[in-house]
Amino acid sequence: MKHQSRPAQWRLPQRLRAILILLTAALVAVGAPLVTSGSASAGTTLGASAAEKGRYFGAAVPAFKLSDGQFAGILDREFNAVTPENEMKWDATEPSQNQFRYTGGDQIVSHAQAHNMRVRGHTLLWHAQQPGWAQSLSGTALRNAAMNHVTQVATHYRGQIYAWDVVNEAFADGGSGARRDSNLQRTGNDWIEVAFRTARAADPAAKLCYNDYNTDGVNAKSTGVYNMVRDFKSRGVPIDCVGFQSHLGTTLPGDYQANLQRFADLGVDVQITELDISQGSNQATMYAAVTRACLAVTRCTGITTWGVRDSDSWRSGDNPLLFDGSGNKKPAYTAVLNALNAGGTTPPPGPVDTSAWYVLLNRNSGKALDVYGASTADGARIT
Ligand code: G3I
Repeated sequence: MKHQSRPAQWRLPQRLRAILILLTAALVAVGAPLVTSGSASAGTTLGASAAEKGRYFGAAVPAFKLSDGQFAGILDREFNAVTPENEMKWDATEPSQNQFRYTGGDQIVSHAQAHNMRVRGHTLLWHAQQPGWAQSLSGTALRNAAMNHVTQVATHYRGQIYAWDVVNEAFADGGSGARRDSNLQRTGNDWIEVAFRTARAADPAAKLCYNDYNTDGVNAKSTGVYNMVRDFKSRGVPIDCVGFQSHLGTTLPGDYQANLQRFADLGVDVQITELDISQGSNQATMYAAVTRACLAVTRCTGITTWGVRDSDSWRSGDNPLLFDGSGNKKPAYTAVLNALNAGGTTPPPGPVDTSAWYVLLNRNSGKALDVYGASTADGARIT
């Protein structure tokens, strides 16, 4: 839809302009540099090249490495999104019940804001890395503590998080397609939807994601997640995105792209959230294939690698990242950059161009009903 041909009811009365300007500023702050056409470094760094395709390219970051000059230099040059590797997890943010500690997470958010990067929040609820006090709770006491945790942390970071991994790794491995047993699961099967509703109330602007591993192809586990997302969408549970961790070995599932697409077809964004791939003869090829798969799925909004240099990785023995331990670009880096740069610089229709917004007005009352980005694809709805 062109600005000039907006229907009459979409025109902005004076009194709403100030609101819209403020709203636009806030959205740009949260949404960071999704589209950076004309950037001098377009095509030469991961972040700029991804932005040319309307996507972000991020890395997992531990706060203590921000003072490592080589690490921060690569991060700031190449990436336009960050995920705190451990600093926003339950054990880090609420070490004692109702005593919150945001030091590491705040450091990463400040760094991101200073460098125009978006932040993926990771993670509000997970069966692992729970503080000892939570591990010893069960039943209603645990459920209440968990939802209080979601409320407090999401409220602390309200307006600063692009997407939250609200729930992480809640499905079992193997062929059952069922939920994983955990203390959280034992509080009742509805714990995940309650967490999503609680997160939405605390931070309405953040995209709310479910995140898991071994869900990278069509298999029993990913189908279990798929069925949950389909159910949530049908019942109005607020879920916006699904994260595919993509900790990969030496083969990529042949249906990797098709799997992303089937989730996107449910009406959620998809994101590659923790990408790392064993070094071997296939590493560069596989990185390129993952990148192409994301670019081919309109609602795949971005890719995050789980670290920057091989030496930063939780699986450093596999040398699974895009930069070697000395910070040099690996062949896998070049393969990703080339894949991002292939086919020109036209952004796909899905992601939002934050340069212009429309307010949809009620014809009779003149009240704002909804706000849309300049792209009116369903992914652009931001109420
Ligand atoms: O914070 C303590 C520190 O106080 C202590 O001195 C030190 C001694 O070992 O341990 C520190 O905690 C470690 C923590 O990372 C922070 O460095 C834990 O032992 C260690 O287990 C933890 O590992 C993290 C792991 O999640 C926890 O399960 C990894 O760094 C992190 O990369 C990894 O990330 C996960 C994602 O969150 C979810 N998906 C899988 C991914 C890889 O496992």
